[in-house]
Amino acid sequence: MSDGHSRAAGEGRAAVVWFTGLSGAGKSTLAEAVAAKLRGLGRRFELLDGDVVRTHLSKGLSFSREDRDINVARIAFVAHLLARNGITVLVAAISPFRVTRDDARALIGDFVEVHVAPPLDECIKRDVKGLYKRAIAGEIAQFTGISDPYEPPLAAEVTVDTSAVSVDEGARAVLSALRERGYLDDAATADAAAATDETQAARITGSEHGHE
Ligand code: ADX
Repeated sequence: MSDGHSRAAGEGRAAVVWFTGLSGAGKSTLAEAVAAKLRGLGRRFELLDGDVVRTHLSKGLSFSREDRDINVARIAFVAHLLARNGITVLVAAISPFRVTRDDARALIGDFVEVHVAPPLDECIKRDVKGLYKRAIAGEIAQFTGISDPYEPPLAAEVTVDTSAVSVDEGARAVLSALRERGYLDDAATADAAAATDETQAARITGSEHGHE
């Protein structure tokens, strides 16, 4: 593989923004809201969503610890390749094990961890995909938060309790963290945040209960 990576003039360093949290916590929804803001900024980005990755790159993997670690390591590998070519990467995957996320951080370097952290009870209440009900009934083995562990980050760059703040507030917090660390151009960030406000308001209303 080549290491000759160049970035377009004016583009800052690219980060991997890693959304971790329970199933139904709102990782994908928050990542998509951040994606909308990056689109407004004209930033190149890619979204790697656990659910989607598991239908392609990680097809056939189970939810054993070993397979989850393989899944997360694959996502980290691809995210690393993209980010070093100037593409901001948004990862949304439960990624329940701290050491595995820390390995991803070590590989990637430009790593911004976002803990999407509503209380477990809230995820159970939402039960967007109906999986908690089945897991609690014992129909799904090794279900994160019910019969399998979730190890929260000890020092995430951003923590978003999606039961307490709106999607747009959460996305703004992520954008701020990126800006503070030099991953976004200041003026452009403010413009895009303003420009996507209206769209976001519409999205929040439309997708509050329909999407993780
Ligand atoms: S990870 O643990 O390997 O990072 P990933 O984010 O790819 O998980 O996939 C999680 C999604 O798979 C959940 O949102 C849920 O829809 C589904 N799923 C199916 N079985 C399980 C399980 N046993 N534990 C957690 N999620 C599961």
